[in-house]
Amino acid sequence: MNENVTIQDTNPPLTTIASLGGHEGQSVTLQGWLYNLRESGKLLFPIFRDGTGTVQGIVPKAAVTPEVFETVKALTQESSVIVTGKVRADKRAPGGYELDVEHVQVVQRVAEDDPFPISLKEHGVDFLMEHRHLWLRTPRQSAILRIRAEIMRAAQEYFDTNGFVRTDPPVLTPAACEGTSTLFPVEYFGDEAYLTQSGQLYIEATALALGKVYSFGPTFRAEKSKTRRHLTEFWMIEPEMAYAGLDELMMLAENFISHIVARVLERHQADLKVIGRDITKLETVRAPFPRISYNDAVAMLHEAHSKGLLENKFTYGDDFGSPDETYISSQFDRPVMVHRYPAEVKAFYMEPDPADAKYALCVDVLAPEGYGEIIGGSQRVASYDLLKKRIEDHGLSLQAFQWYLDLRKYGSVPHAGFGMGIERAVAWICGLDHVRETIPFARTLNRIYP
Ligand code: 4AD
Ligand code: MG
Repeated sequence: MNENVTIQDTNPPLTTIASLGGHEGQSVTLQGWLYNLRESGKLLFPIFRDGTGTVQGIVPKAAVTPEVFETVKALTQESSVIVTGKVRADKRAPGGYELDVEHVQVVQRVAEDDPFPISLKEHGVDFLMEHRHLWLRTPRQSAILRIRAEIMRAAQEYFDTNGFVRTDPPVLTPAACEGTSTLFPVEYFGDEAYLTQSGQLYIEATALALGKVYSFGPTFRAEKSKTRRHLTEFWMIEPEMAYAGLDELMMLAENFISHIVARVLERHQADLKVIGRDITKLETVRAPFPRISYNDAVAMLHEAHSKGLLENKFTYGDDFGSPDETYISSQFDRPVMVHRYPAEVKAFYMEPDPADAKYALCVDVLAPEGYGEIIGGSQRVASYDLLKKRIEDHGLSLQAFQWYLDLRKYGSVPHAGFGMGIERAVAWICGLDHVRETIPFARTLNRIYP
């Protein structure tokens, strides 16, 4: 550090860029970094950032001491600085305020011969991902992370205020939940264990103990696919309800999503603006959401194909691919709930539809604008015998699932739950074309650095 950074008592009050509105006409102190510097003759325009936003400072040569002018003039991108200045309202400023700089204290000056690698010009995505630890500082990335935090907060708030008890499942597990092809093995004292793919099986147990529960934590899938929607490590929030079926589950999903979107709109207008999100597309997201069956969706896809709107003819019985989901969701102005898929393409634990056992009592929520599946859920098999048969048919180990089968032996009830991937929700709400920007440090097939 170049100077002692302790703030003197005589300094104007410390505040943040997001709170400048409460200090109009006053001198304040900000702790932050130099984002950019423009020069125009005897005027300097440093832009500061402090984690809550950015603000442009004005430094006229005639208004400050030569020392302050020269210090600002010599600032390099991302040098850390403590700035004091007077807050002035300015309608043209993105945040509504500018700062008439009075004093600048340099905490650490970035060396000229080793500048901040991410300049304000365009960089390729590989370069940016390689420098993710620094890329996070740019206004757009910071705005996305603030919205992510709000989505996580609102999601928990919804369950916390609607009678759900948070119960945390283990991350180290002895068996698969979502198919054996995407398991991450871990050596566990001589045995093979796996990183969890979903907390579901465990929160079925806590739901039968507590009624309504949820879990929230990291989940893992050894996904060999390089798509815009897949991470190998992602965060899932999962509610589970005893004495509930598919209809209650769909009602929960639409109210839950509506709450999250409303919170983001209410609290993050400035961030949505920074990332250029068209918010009219979010304002329509209110329960109830449209509900269509898998069969309705297939009919929609077949019609689209016959009209030349979709290239490939969808094969009845398959799971939807990305172009199929995009087409289906583009027909609606809010998320659409697709229910009752063929049991064959879905997980072993899904309850068959009593009206036709070929179909599962399940639902996928597809986000609008082609963002694809954000929620997957179902009613769970309640019968001991059927569940046992399913486990065997799927080639899973009965021994590893004995505890799960017990839940069907001692007071089995209809129960249902879903999982929402936070990163998919962030990608949709922020309008991002790839999930790698939705999490501080994305883990994908090709990347585990930084
Ligand atoms: O549809 P999935 O596989 O469902 C489950 O895991 C259930 N056990 C959840 C439950 O019923 N409690 O995953 C749920 C959601 C998906 O809709 C998607 O949002 C997200 O998790 N997801 C992923 N997100 C990012 N990368 C991946 N590889 C993901 N796989 C699933
Ligand atoms: Mg799914």
